[in-house]
Amino acid sequence: MAYETVDVRKLTGGCGAEVLGVDLNALSNSQWAEVQRAYAEFGVIFFRDQRLTPEQHIAFARRWAPIDINRFFTPVEGHPEIAEVRKEPEQKTNIGGGWHTDHSYDKAPAMGSVLLARELPEEGGDTLFANMYRAYETLSEPIKKMLTGLSALHDSSKAHYYRVKANDRDEMKFPNAEHPVVRTHPVTGKQALFVNRGFTLRIPQLKKHESDALLEMLYRHLETPEFQCRFKWQKNSVAFWDNRSTQHHAMFDYFPHRRYGHRVTICGDKPFYRAA
Ligand code: SIN
Repeated sequence: MAYETVDVRKLTGGCGAEVLGVDLNALSNSQWAEVQRAYAEFGVIFFRDQRLTPEQHIAFARRWAPIDINRFFTPVEGHPEIAEVRKEPEQKTNIGGGWHTDHSYDKAPAMGSVLLARELPEEGGDTLFANMYRAYETLSEPIKKMLTGLSALHDSSKAHYYRVKANDRDEMKFPNAEHPVVRTHPVTGKQALFVNRGFTLRIPQLKKHESDALLEMLYRHLETPEFQCRFKWQKNSVAFWDNRSTQHHAMFDYFPHRRYGHRVTICGDKPFYRAA
């Protein structure tokens, strides 16, 4: 079905679309309906030139569901709902610099995240997104059959242990959760692969070496370039991704420069698998 009130430009055959001609702070009812449709259709949608205040950024995210506050990122002063995605010139790592799904370690992982670029390096700092429906659909039938009924353990300590100061680690609870390896999207009803390098630890139904080998095979598969799009940020660009159907990877090719964004993450629900 064509879009009538917004201009939607698909990025690649993998995923992602730019949605042009909208002001996220002043969406008409029909634009809002079409933005919702584009989000479900493309997995990640991008907007340019959105001069949102922190309050407007939070208000846009709240239209979808309550805010899911990140436990590990520094919040923006006065706005605990907004996480800083900050890379200072001297830092040798960035946030999100590997394939992952935000908050997959929670019992009810985040539905999605809205990232607004505030400051960018002159070159580099793009973000890659990958389509987890395609990742699932393109597996061979015997592998799909094997994955049905398997779950995976996700643990925040896998990625965040080293981000937390040594003396805070003992007191800190690192959340973890077990989720189906294939999840059914609650809105589209489609199946998506739901394991990620960032936070998935193992498949408890398998022996460790079997779990390691299977997860490595799935990670390599889901990182297939044809499932991806790559977003080139500009100041005030917004990316809004669906964690239930995509993964992302923030490129780190801009050392020693600064990159700074504001991320608001939106609550999701407990993943489930329902046979098609
Ligand atoms: C993230 O994983 O939320 C960071 C994405 C980015 O900085 O592009």
